[in-house]
Formats: sequence, C-alpha cells, structure tokens
Amino acid sequence: MPQITYEGRSYVTEGDETVLDCLLRHGESVSYGCRAGACQSCLMQAVDGAPPSDSQKGLKDTQKFDRQFLACLCHPTTDLEVAIPGAAAKTYTSPVIDVERLNAEIARVRLGLPAGFKYRAGQFINIVAPGGVSRSYSLASVPDEDDYLELHVRRIPSGLVSGWIYDELKTNTELTISEAMGQCFYVPARNDQPLLLIGTGSGLAPLYGIARDALRQGHTGAIHLYHGSSNQDGIYYFEEMSALAEKHPHFNYTPTLSRPHELPKVASGRAHEIALQSLGALRGWRIYLCGHPEMVHGTKKQAFLAGAAMQDIYADPFTFVQHPPKAVG
Ligand SMILES: Cc1cc2nc3c(=O)[nH]c(=O)nc-3n(C[C@H](O)[C@H](O)[C@H](O)COP(=O)(O)OP(=O)(O)OC[C@H]3O[C@@H](n4cnc5c(N)ncnc54)[C@H](O)[C@@H]3O)c2cc1C
Ligand code: FES
Repeated sequence: MPQITYEGRSYVTEGDETVLDCLLRHGESVSYGCRAGACQSCLMQAVDGAPPSDSQKGLKDTQKFDRQFLACLCHPTTDLEVAIPGAAAKTYTSPVIDVERLNAEIARVRLGLPAGFKYRAGQFINIVAPGGVSRSYSLASVPDEDDYLELHVRRIPSGLVSGWIYDELKTNTELTISEAMGQCFYVPARNDQPLLLIGTGSGLAPLYGIARDALRQGHTGAIHLYHGSSNQDGIYYFEEMSALAEKHPHFNYTPTLSRPHELPKVASGRAHEIALQSLGALRGWRIYLCGHPEMVHGTKKQAFLAGAAMQDIYADPFTFVQHPPKAVG
C-alpha cells in the first residue's frame, strides 16, 4: 500500500483511505472541515510524488502546478511525501461584534471587517473554533453596503462548531477566519438575465447577500428567491426578505414549508419543487443553489434538464461530515 510521509514520519495507508484519514488515524494534527472537497481546509502539497488529479478538484492552475491537493479527496496510488503548503488560505483575526439568536435554530453573527479582507457576497469563510476545528460559513453581507461580515449559523443538534457558535460565542471574542473562498457570487454581466435563487435553512445566507448585491449593481432581470425549510424556525428573515421584495418590484420572495402549516404568505411544499413547477423552462436563466447537499445536487440536475446551461448554475452544497461529534475545547 502507498506510504505517506509527513514531517519526517511515515505511515502506510490502509485500504482505500485518504491521506487525511491516514494522518488522523496516526494522531497527526492536521486541519480539516467538510471532508468533501468543499472548504479547502485540508489543503496539502506533495513534496515528493504526484497527487491524483481527483484530489485537485476546484484548485487554481497555479496550485495544481505546485502539486497542491485536498487531503480529504486524495486516495494515493503511489508513495507521497506531503507538507502544509506555504500558500495555504490566508487567515485574519476578526472580532465578534454581535451574536443574535434569531430563533431556536438560527444565530446571526456579525464580525468586524479585518484590514485588507476582500470578498464577494455569497462566498464563504472558514471559522476556526477552539481546538483548531474549522467549519465553513457563507457571507450574507455585501461589500460596499455593510461595514461588517454577516453569517447565519444553523445550530445542528450535537454539532461541534455550530453548537459552540450558537451557545457560547460572545461579543468581542477574537476569531480566526480564513480569506473568502468559493465561486457562488453575483457577476454583473448580462444584467437582464432572470435569476433563480433557491436555499434551504441557513442556505439563505449567501442568497441574501447575492440578491442584495445584484440589486445594488443594477440587475434589471427578474430575481426569484425561494427559501425552504421543514420547520418554521428555518424560515427566518421573513421581514427583511419581504421588505426587499416591497422595495424592488422585480425581486420575488417565496418562503416555503414542507411540513403542514397554516402560515399565511408561506407556500406549502419543498422550495425547489415549487420553484421548478412554477417557473417551467429555465433556458437562459442564471441559478444559485445553496444549503442541504441533497437539494443542491438534485436541483442542479433538474435545472439543467429544464434548459439551464451548466455554466449558469452556481451551487454551494453545505457539505457536512458524518462523524461521531467530539467536544470543542
Ligand atoms: C461551502 C460551505 C458553506 C457553508 N455555509 C454555511 C452557512 O452559511 N450556515 C450554516 O449554518 N452552515 C453552513 N455550512 C455547514 C457548516 O460548515 C457545518 O458543516 C455545520 O455548521 C455543521 O458543523 P458542526 O461542527 O456544528 O457539526 P458536526 O460536529 O460536524 O456534525 C455533528 C453531526 O451532525 C450531523 N450533521 C452535520 N451537519 C448536518 C446537517 N446540515 N444536516 C443534518 N445533519 C448534520 C453529522 O451527522 C455529524 O455527525 C457550510 C458548509 C460548506 C461546505
Ligand atoms: S476540502 Fe478537505 S476537509 Fe474540506
């Protein structure tokens, strides 16, 4: 089996395990988050040997050239000597301005803008929690409009980092955050193109940023935002979204609940099903999908079958790790 050498220590991989799993199994302290190729927390570099191209998905050409790879995707086929790359994501220190629990499930976190921090609405950052565990959270704020970074964090039962943020994070805590990453943001080209935005739960965060950014940049095409949840707490920011729709007649907001309910102004059913049924053919549309991975992957396929071009579909699945949780500390 291939051997992994890290900081002078060598380990033989077992079965089809990844470089990340092999290093963690041997007690190495390496950074990771989603374990699914989305957050880039586990970025490593092959000092010797070639990482398989599957482990370089989503990296820049310069990073590939540097033999950087994502340890959570890397099933090595030959021996590798690996290291943490010097050009890993930049980190910043950011003070917590405010943590507001919007309901029993969602916390809105506002962070100070670190000097030199650049981002686009809808991108995500990695937050490092005590113990060095990191998780990704999307940016709901808009550069040029908000003088803070805004995150919407859904508390996952037994969730290591979301639980810590919801229950324990306090104003003035200095957080370590990564630079902004991801390709899910508004681009001002073709500003008359119809936009469809679908999010579940805290998947509203990037969409709230993207929609406001599009409106701020003078998007003239119709914008349809569907926000879905299975329970009522998942439909947060109802007032803010409704106010946006009232101010901009070409912005349409549809909250949806999949469980039976009697709320006025909230549609019954799943957000993506209601959107696809109501809008029909999607040829020429630009589409943003954020939230539960199953919804994001499934709707991406359905939108393509309804006529949307693949390059017009921007997707951020909120990938999570299936693991027995440990305590933060
Ligand atoms: C690009 C990206 C952007 C993201 N943006 C956001 C955001 O804006 N807001 C936000 O709230 N989250 C976001 N996430 C998800 C976030 O990064 C964490 O995965 C989430 O907060 C859970 O982390 P945790 O440490 O609390 O739970 P963990 O300790 O990692 O998980 C504990 C257990 O809960 C289960 N679990 C974890 N997440 C879920 C889930 N969503 N549904 C069902 N079971 C689950 C798993 O089985 C796991 O074993 C994003 C993820 C990615 C990849
Ligand atoms: S990309 Fe590897 S842990 Fe997220």
